[in-house]
Amino acid sequence: MKALVLSQHGGLENLQCVTDYPMPTLQDGHVIIRVGASSFNYHDVFTVKGMPGIKVPLPVVIGLDFAGTITEIGGQVTGWQVGDRVLVNPLNKTKGLMGEMLDGGMAEYCLVSAEQLIKMPDAVSFEQAASLPVAYGTAHRMLITHNTVKKGDRVLILGASGGVGTGCVILAKKLGAEVIACASSAEKLARLKEIGADEVINYKDVDFSKWAVEKYGKPQRRNYEGGVDVVINFTGGDTWVPSLRCLKRGGKLLVCGATAGHDPKEDLRYVWSFELQIIGSNSFYMDNLTALMDMISKGEITPMIDKILPLEQASEGLRLIQDREVLGKVIITP
Ligand SMILES: NC(=O)c1ccc[n+]([C@@H]2O[C@H](COP(=O)([O-])OP(=O)(O)OC[C@H]3O[C@@H](n4cnc5c(N)ncnc54)[C@H](OP(=O)(O)O)[C@@H]3O)[C@@H](O)[C@H]2O)c1
Repeated sequence: MKALVLSQHGGLENLQCVTDYPMPTLQDGHVIIRVGASSFNYHDVFTVKGMPGIKVPLPVVIGLDFAGTITEIGGQVTGWQVGDRVLVNPLNKTKGLMGEMLDGGMAEYCLVSAEQLIKMPDAVSFEQAASLPVAYGTAHRMLITHNTVKKGDRVLILGASGGVGTGCVILAKKLGAEVIACASSAEKLARLKEIGADEVINYKDVDFSKWAVEKYGKPQRRNYEGGVDVVINFTGGDTWVPSLRCLKRGGKLLVCGATAGHDPKEDLRYVWSFELQIIGSNSFYMDNLTALMDMISKGEITPMIDKILPLEQASEGLRLIQDREVLGKVIITP
């Protein structure tokens, strides 16, 4: 079958679309899925490069997020039928993440444990479902499960143009927040406005933290005036301390990643003086994905899909993410 295979760590040239990858073999407790769509995340860039402490069994079919149709059902599987449309939660309880520790969704067919399946509502397309788990699922957990954003909050989102970022913009707007979206180009900012951002900042040209202090006033230690209520920061690096500086007293800094560096300079004075809360989020659960598909089928949200590419052009799709040239998700259809 066709599959996007990583044979050794390094650059994107190590990813190859092959046509002779072995078909998965059915196992008890599992189903085989014909993949309808899969999507990339920045995580796939890390997987291709290789991450310290994570030993990926190579070669591996990459792709964490995917949705498709069940074509075969193994022994001991109940409640599913051939032809069911399903979204896959990529976290396999015994082996780890699909597309990293075991073959993932960038292929024509994939073996999946029945525990990882979620039935798709008819009104949700494969492309929409495949855009959800890692990016929107994490955004949903960060904002909704952890109850961090409420109506009227000023929410400043760094990296708003990415997968998690557009998910945060869309969900924060749905919660009634005032959204300040930060991205690195005028084109991205224009599109972020189209999906609901109230304010946009090009943080290549403008210091986002100073911008927020000028716009909303200096955060006060003795009252709750000035600054923003929430900063969403999965960039890390030198954006960390500026994020602390523009939060109002009692403000929340939400973090689920560190694309630009996980050990930034810290300034604890802001944390205690302004009684800031730093709230981490990791991953997502079945309830996040079910809730997101429900929102799509009710017409309450539409995931932001930038490009849909065939499997043969999948490496180019990941290059776009690596080089920060996307707005939202890149979807691959085998
Ligand atoms: N803990 C979890 O469960 C979890 C789940 C999902 C994601 N994550 C993490 O969250 C981060 C975002 O993931 P994603 O899939 O949404 O990524 P993405 O689609 O590539 O978006 C990341 C955005 O961050 C911005 N950015 C700022 N500095 C960057 C840099 N130095 N390198 C690359 N991009 C930079 C880019 O927008 P501009 O060019 O406009 O600045 C980019 O669009 C990643 O670090 C990922 O590992 C963690």
